[in-house]
Amino acid sequence: CGIVGYVGPRDSQAILIAGLSRLEYRGYDSAGIAVIDEGGHLGMRKRAGKLTVLRDDLSAHPMSDGTTGIGHTRWATHGGPTDANAHPHLADDDKLAVIHNGIVENYAALKAELVSEGHTFRSETDTEVAAVLLGREYEANGGALVAAFRATVARLEGAFTLLAVHEDHPGLVVGARRNSPLVIGLGEGENFLGSDVAAFVEHTRSALAIGQDEIVAITPEGVTVTDFTGHPVEVEPFEVTWDASAAEKGGWSSFMAKEVSEEPEAVANTLRGRIRDGVVAIPELDGLDDLFREVSRIVIIAAGTAAYAGMVGKYALETWARVPVDVDLAHEFHYRDPVIGPDTLVISISQSGETMDTLMAVKYARERGAKTLSICNTQGATIPRESDAIVYTHAGPEVAVASTKAFVAQIAAQYLLALHIALVRGKLSRTEVAQHLLELEAIPEKIQHILDTEQEHIEQFAHWMADTRSVLFLGRHVGYPIALEGALKLKEISYIHAEGFAAGELKHGPIALIEPGQPVFVIVPSPREAPVMHSKVVSNIREIHARGARVIAIAEEGDAAVLPISDEVLRVPLAGAMFEPLLAVVPLHIFAMGLATAKGLDVDQPRNLAKSVTVE
Ligand code: G6P
Repeated sequence: CGIVGYVGPRDSQAILIAGLSRLEYRGYDSAGIAVIDEGGHLGMRKRAGKLTVLRDDLSAHPMSDGTTGIGHTRWATHGGPTDANAHPHLADDDKLAVIHNGIVENYAALKAELVSEGHTFRSETDTEVAAVLLGREYEANGGALVAAFRATVARLEGAFTLLAVHEDHPGLVVGARRNSPLVIGLGEGENFLGSDVAAFVEHTRSALAIGQDEIVAITPEGVTVTDFTGHPVEVEPFEVTWDASAAEKGGWSSFMAKEVSEEPEAVANTLRGRIRDGVVAIPELDGLDDLFREVSRIVIIAAGTAAYAGMVGKYALETWARVPVDVDLAHEFHYRDPVIGPDTLVISISQSGETMDTLMAVKYARERGAKTLSICNTQGATIPRESDAIVYTHAGPEVAVASTKAFVAQIAAQYLLALHIALVRGKLSRTEVAQHLLELEAIPEKIQHILDTEQEHIEQFAHWMADTRSVLFLGRHVGYPIALEGALKLKEISYIHAEGFAAGELKHGPIALIEPGQPVFVIVPSPREAPVMHSKVVSNIREIHARGARVIAIAEEGDAAVLPISDEVLRVPLAGAMFEPLLAVVPLHIFAMGLATAKGLDVDQPRNLAKSVTVE
């Protein structure tokens, strides 16, 4: 869910709606706002559906405006996406409005307690329980909103960011966070709260990160942050490194189209300033060389696309740095009693830095004594704050739900890390590291070449395939995670059944799926860089081609072996074997986008998904 709060001299409705539109990627089932109007009355409007439904409703039936307000865009957890279940939720007397991100795990017990006291409920949500509880504590604390917050959060279990306004306190928004994101934006005579900086970056780039279990109160003049017991705490200021235009669509048809076009830049920016004199120079890694030398095992944890980036990273870390690496889905890692300890380095990968599954796994790893390093794209996010070390990807804000430019940036960041660890451990020479770094630095231009020469062709071809009901993807070695990513992207935005397989696994089962006309994408290794794997994958193509599959090969320029056995060949420039994923994935991103567009679907906001899933 996305959360925004505002206090200041300006009318808040437009600010809240604009903030929500930037946060809509976090959920778009329903949206709502609450504003304390000039007359000191609390007004609220909330509607099921995307933000446009709320926006249209407000323009058809305007609500009186005021300078204090909160807004919410929802990804449903408790209770379906209806008007009643949308946020804000009100306390009994309709004077106090609350919005919430997360899950109140003990809501049933709290609800029973409140019902037995005579309180009534208007929705099925856990959030309304928090609202009614806050209302009760407000009365019990003689109308002190911050004190009521302290009493309320003491009763809540689970994950929550809560924001509230009360009509008797114009000019005040109070918030609390546990395991869910919240940042402060500092303006001149106005202040903001947001799930992330996108909520307010068009007004200010000066921000404060709020820590775990903290309560914040913002007024037009200032900000106070305390822990849950009321003690003041230090907050960490930071400057947002991108401006509002970076999170705007510009002339593009969708955010996804814009973000795919930014893949070269995402890699270039992630490398920028981090390679000096043929070695990796990342200041954030200073002081970690002993750890890198001594660590006996690496575990990479992530979810979704980030986990596929992690699988690519495993090949690089094992090949170059010779450390054993496991890649685990964060949610599986956490609950299966993994064997980890002080000799384990746990690397988490997350675009948003807020994925709850990943966050919980990082915390768990730390509790078990492992060292944690976060690869993250979002400044001030929770996962990097909970980790021992951070390497930021600099892909810029990613808005489309399906991750694209962040994926290539995550691979680039892992390659830097792998080459650094390889040098520290003495597994690669300086010359070898320098050579690989040169290859890495050449990648942005090669991705650009694919966009320039293949994009139209792939889009055209995706258009022809709009009626396809199932697509398979095959890859080997570093091409395997790319096959998985190609399939995930297609599922996410075009709702077509898609599966990725390791090419070698084909004969052990998936080949039974091949029937005449079945489209199969095959990521073909370089004949020059990986001749053995190349010939094996060519054999796989022969096997499926003979059975009537419609083969779409993603192959290096000049690879003639694929021509007689493929129906389509999408070309990628020459690159070292390890660098192929950074290129081969680009046609797959374009294909998924082209196919979803041909089907008339919303590529930026696919059904049922949210970009940042802040519940477990
Ligand atoms: C959600 C999104 C996916 C994304 C995954 C991990 O499931 O829908 O597109 O890959 O979260 O997100 P993260 O922000 O942790 O990279």
